Amino acid sequence: MANTILVGAQWGDEGKGKIIDVLTETADIVVRTQGGNNAGHTVFLGAQKYVLHLVPSGILRPGKRCVIGNGVVVDPVSLVEEIEGLRKLGVKVDGNLFISESAHLVFPYHRALDEQRELRKGRNKIGTTKRGIGPAYGDKAARAGLRMIDLVQPDRFATLLRQRIQENNELLRAWGAPPLSYARVQAAYRAAGDALQGFVSNTVVMLNEAIRRGENLLFEGAQGTFLDIDHGTYPFVTLSNTTAGGACTGSGVPPNRIDRVVGVMKAYTTRVGEGPLPTENAEVADMLHALGREFGATTGRPRRCGWFDAVATRHATMVNGIDKLAVTNIDGLDSVETIKVCVAYRAGGRQYEYVPTDAPTLAACRPVYAEFPGWRCATGQARSWAALPTKTRQYLKAIAELSGARLGLASVGPSREQTIFR
Ligand code: GDP
Ligand code: IMO
Ligand code: MG
Repeated sequence: MANTILVGAQWGDEGKGKIIDVLTETADIVVRTQGGNNAGHTVFLGAQKYVLHLVPSGILRPGKRCVIGNGVVVDPVSLVEEIEGLRKLGVKVDGNLFISESAHLVFPYHRALDEQRELRKGRNKIGTTKRGIGPAYGDKAARAGLRMIDLVQPDRFATLLRQRIQENNELLRAWGAPPLSYARVQAAYRAAGDALQGFVSNTVVMLNEAIRRGENLLFEGAQGTFLDIDHGTYPFVTLSNTTAGGACTGSGVPPNRIDRVVGVMKAYTTRVGEGPLPTENAEVADMLHALGREFGATTGRPRRCGWFDAVATRHATMVNGIDKLAVTNIDGLDSVETIKVCVAYRAGGRQYEYVPTDAPTLAACRPVYAEFPGWRCATGQARSWAALPTKTRQYLKAIAELSGARLGLASVGPSREQTIFR
């Protein structure tokens, strides 16, 4: 299978967790390389639902190793909770989970600042997950961050934390927000540091040595292409590179060791949080929400929904170098009579084949739709390409072609078994 990067080709929540779980079967190591616990990756094993935030979804396959890479921002208290939750469900984490010593830490002041910035933006808020991810990456870039390597050296950590709390409390006070107690944060982080100590290592060397031995790496993207800090709908983005390049910088694995890129996309479009979404459609949202679908895995917020946007996925294929597409949630369209697909945008007398850079321009874009006849039957039982209705196959072929990549996988339900290889 070689070394594979898996990315979200839309606005996040494409079903990456499910597809990672499927692909982990033929991988040796699964690596998260960016984002933090803003991610929520859902995997079903039988009736048991797992929602992974920081731990790679590969953890659910016995015998596989998982790495939280240097590009991830780790809230250590939340990670300990996640690990405890997995242990309670009988998932093995000891000896098979590794955390990069250079991964940056998320602190309560990052969460407080995240909240304050959102409040101060008022109507122009981003709709963040309020997990402190933006301010944590901000500190990393400002050389004001603390890392896992600091956390596991208690004396050094105590000194550094005191400085950081002092400085951030000044900021919080100036904004009229309550300051944090150094003693309380220190105690919680000390405990988390102790709990995580055994997981922390130099994962850059580990991963490169594994590649030299011929092992197969699977890089689990978080968020999606249009939440990328460089390629997304700025400023309505997250603060990491969610596109394929982020997998290299976020792991220390060089680009010439990557063999292929898989792009995951839903058969329609969703977005959670603010920012332009050209194909947004109330009927599609009502239909999916009525089925109990499309509520955020991390915040529980109802996701905004719309028709499949091939301009966006074409752009995603370009910037990620997507070789193969995995289309999920095909069954979400089972009852639709006529399915629309956005094939171009129009705005200001211009036609766009790729996503324009400026968010206000994108917000002004009107989709040009092509229509496809719905298949109007349940697809969840299909286990082969041939078992899918002809109209479903036609629809999938069309959206793959419009996106500019080959269809590799089709998903007709949340479980492992509901996956069709093409
Ligand atoms: P991720 O963040 O990309 O891993 O995606 P999320 O887990 O946040 O959201 C995807 C949702 O779709 C989850 O509830 C999955 O269980 C679900 N899902 C994934 N693939 C399919 C599918 O083919 N059909 C259905 N019905 N649900 C799916
Ligand atoms: P997964 O990995 C969907 C969105 C937030 C907000 C923006 C910035 O499950 O696909 P942040 O808290 O990161 O500063 O918020 O990004 N967002 C996601 N949307 N799926 C995610 O992750 C997301 N992670 C962040 O809703 O619009
Ligand atoms: Mg998600």
